Amino acid sequence: MRIDIITCLPRLLDSPFSDSILKRAQEKGLVEVVIHDLRTYSMDKHRRIDDYAFGGGAGMVMMIEPIVRCFDALKLERSYDEIIYMSPDGEQFSQNMANELSLKGNLMILCGHYKGIDERVRENYITKEISIGDYVLSGGELAAAVVSDAVIRLLPGVLSDETSALTDSFQDGLVAPPVYTRPAEFNGLKVPDILLSGHEKKIEEWRFEQSVKRTEEKRPHLNKEK
Ligand code: ADE
Repeated sequence: MRIDIITCLPRLLDSPFSDSILKRAQEKGLVEVVIHDLRTYSMDKHRRIDDYAFGGGAGMVMMIEPIVRCFDALKLERSYDEIIYMSPDGEQFSQNMANELSLKGNLMILCGHYKGIDERVRENYITKEISIGDYVLSGGELAAAVVSDAVIRLLPGVLSDETSALTDSFQDGLVAPPVYTRPAEFNGLKVPDILLSGHEKKIEEWRFEQSVKRTEEKRPHLNKEK
């Protein structure tokens, strides 16, 4: 998979991709993440990528020209399965969407800023708009990192234990069961006996029951969506 992220603040995306699982996924050649500085596609000598909104009002709008110049340059190299725009009014991101995106080959992600991007970009070039939640971030960069992380960890070979992405919360419409590690007792706080019993089948049943109970308590809507 290849993910091209287009931003006017490229440094914001340095650290999420240079540590831990996402770093290793790139080193193993399972994903290529390329960050593009939108300002290098600007038409003017001040490298501006935003301008005042037609009709007035506070806040700047990201201009169509640098964005489309960047899209065109990238599309000359390869075709893209989705051209994604990160925006608080996009479709709500979910595990299902992460699963779907993980099956694609090439993704482009545009990060919005200021008052947003010229609507003509959304109408004519963007194929998918994603929000990570009903709150407004300063820009789309952190949201793009969230989406990329959720997608990349699903790619075959990225997680060392092949099954661990499958047992994540939400994968089967349930949140994950509680987990414990050593010591078996800490200041009188005990690990449930069943987990120490060595009885694999019973442990599996217990974990499933706990998942169902937790889902009902913490995410009751997940059961109803199924
Ligand atoms: N840009 C600003 N806020 C955002 C959000 N909640 N989701 C995606 N992109 C955003």
